[in-house]
Amino acid sequence: MQIFISLLELFCVKETLLEMISRMSQTLCIIGLGFIGSEVIKNLDQFGEKIVLTAVYDIDKKKMDEITEKYPKIRLMTSLSDFDDCDIVIEAATQQVVKEIFTKIVEREKIFIPMSIGAFVTDEKIYSSYMALEKSKRQLIKFPSGAIGGFDAINSIKQIGIISAKLTTTKPPVVFRDQRYIIENKITLSDNEKTQVFKGNAKQAAEAFPRSINVGARLALATLGPEDTNVEVYSDPSINKNIHEIEIQSEVGVYRFSFQNNPSPTNPKTSWLAALSIFDTLEKIE
Ligand SMILES: NC(=O)c1ccc[n+]([C@@H]2O[C@H](COP(=O)([O-])OP(=O)(O)OC[C@H]3O[C@@H](n4cnc5c(N)ncnc54)[C@H](O)[C@@H]3O)[C@@H](O)[C@H]2O)c1
Repeated sequence: MQIFISLLELFCVKETLLEMISRMSQTLCIIGLGFIGSEVIKNLDQFGEKIVLTAVYDIDKKKMDEITEKYPKIRLMTSLSDFDDCDIVIEAATQQVVKEIFTKIVEREKIFIPMSIGAFVTDEKIYSSYMALEKSKRQLIKFPSGAIGGFDAINSIKQIGIISAKLTTTKPPVVFRDQRYIIENKITLSDNEKTQVFKGNAKQAAEAFPRSINVGARLALATLGPEDTNVEVYSDPSINKNIHEIEIQSEVGVYRFSFQNNPSPTNPKTSWLAALSIFDTLEKIE
């Protein structure tokens, strides 16, 4: 009899533990199965049962089919907004995708991890809605640090005030060659010397380079906003890295951060670090 009671107790403890684990686990969906989306899927098992990939979406059907082949249990979403069964939505596609899903994300109270952060500074409605969310402390939007960092120091400096914030980005010419801004403005990308291809604010930078200067938007949202954060962009044929240099002036001091990123193996516009930054963001979600 005693053995039977002990076994029953053990069974109940096991059931309670399993219930607790399933309650602690968060469901995730990923929109965009390019470099960043694939990196996240490949390395997600580090979270065990805490974060479970439930659904994915990409406009490219071939990429969706590859997922089904490798991970038959993952649901293929039927549209961009088919994320009701997910607690967390990662966007790793385009600024346009952020613009299409942002309102639905907020209405359905999902945790949103966007990579195409440029959308937050080019779309005024998204920007003001994000600012209102931050003010109300409804922190649904979790920006990954992306291809840069130093936000712990920047947040500390912000308490006293930031006088100026500037990002200087230098990338190899291959990153810029097919970009609309370069073609429309007839900018010549020299094969021999460093060329300035852009000077303006973070909003203008995200409009000019929707796929490659998200870091300007990320810096702007953490410092002086889209209009008052300065951005300069250079094309340099002598480098094979994506370099981001940040300078912050403040009464607290002067701060310079430099990031010399290796490009990702499949998308030279994207720094490898950007994909890795999602894991830190996921880690911090309670
Ligand atoms: N925040 C940062 O620091 C940072 C750094 C690097 C890249 N990014 C941004 O992250 C995003 C993803 O980068 P990546 O290197 O993985 O790009 P990628 O080009 O390798 O992959 C993008 C994927 O999105 C898919 N896609 C495009 N339009 C879509 C749509 N309407 N619906 C669904 N899927 C769609 C494409 O088919 C592709 O598979 C880009 O917008 C990039 O600019 C941000």
